Amino acid sequence: MTAPTHDWTIDQDWSAYTDAEHQVWTTLYDRQARLLPGRACDAFLDGLDKLNLHQGGIPDFARLNEDLGQLTGWSIVAVPGLVPDAVFFDHLAHRRFPAGRFIREAHQLDYLQEPDVFHDVFGHAPMLAEPVFADYMQAYGEGGLRAGRFAQLHHLARLYWHTVEFGLLETPAGLRIYGAGIVSSKKETLFSLEDPAPHRLGFNLERLMRTPYRIDDLQPTYFVIPSLDALLGATLQDFAPLYDRLADSTDIPIGVVLADDPKFAANRRELDGGESTSELSSRILTIEEDSNP
Ligand SMILES: [Fe+2]
Repeated sequence: MTAPTHDWTIDQDWSAYTDAEHQVWTTLYDRQARLLPGRACDAFLDGLDKLNLHQGGIPDFARLNEDLGQLTGWSIVAVPGLVPDAVFFDHLAHRRFPAGRFIREAHQLDYLQEPDVFHDVFGHAPMLAEPVFADYMQAYGEGGLRAGRFAQLHHLARLYWHTVEFGLLETPAGLRIYGAGIVSSKKETLFSLEDPAPHRLGFNLERLMRTPYRIDDLQPTYFVIPSLDALLGATLQDFAPLYDRLADSTDIPIGVVLADDPKFAANRRELDGGESTSELSSRILTIEEDSNP
């Protein structure tokens, strides 16, 4: 795969955002900021603090990049929407994260057809401020540029999905979220950690890459890493033998649990008033149907 001749970046044109668009950011930010302490991992919460993403609306990428660049050398670049795989991988390999500049509308806070600036920046930028995860994302991009010749992009995409977007982290205090698709979603924040329905399985690179994902619903299965170092370590290997085995393997449908899968229970959390997690399960639907934050 050759480097792209056009990087698909656009000007964020921050001054063109309307007050209504900034208000959508603030509404979503406030909602998630209330929900995430004790649920998101420390690295995410630290990154959120360090990047000052709550300065009155959608962050100006130029301002944000001064902080992010000093922390880990990453930057956020604006793109019009989803970009071709080769372009995406090339950006990551050079520590640039492509972010949509548009933001969802106020009446669609929980509905998203493709990633907007809230998902891309609130969800992804804080973890890019963490040095080990920053290295992991670069390694992923470099792996993507190599994967084309193995015709294995679908397997590599699963690694991104089950970690960068929907990953959970094991900590002494219980499971914590680091995946951008979870931390940017009120519904999935509660569902992934506290609902009894989904499976939470121990991280195993090859098993994970045999597992397809859902793009249209909550995930039936989440993979739990033991540490960010373990995630990076698993990625810094020669994937060629792994790709050979995957080429001869069958998929494991999402939702299927194997006998040797390490399993994690949902976090127990006593809510105000002493609700149990089983009571929470029925509350999640109520929360999602309520469009008010
Ligand atoms: Fe994302």
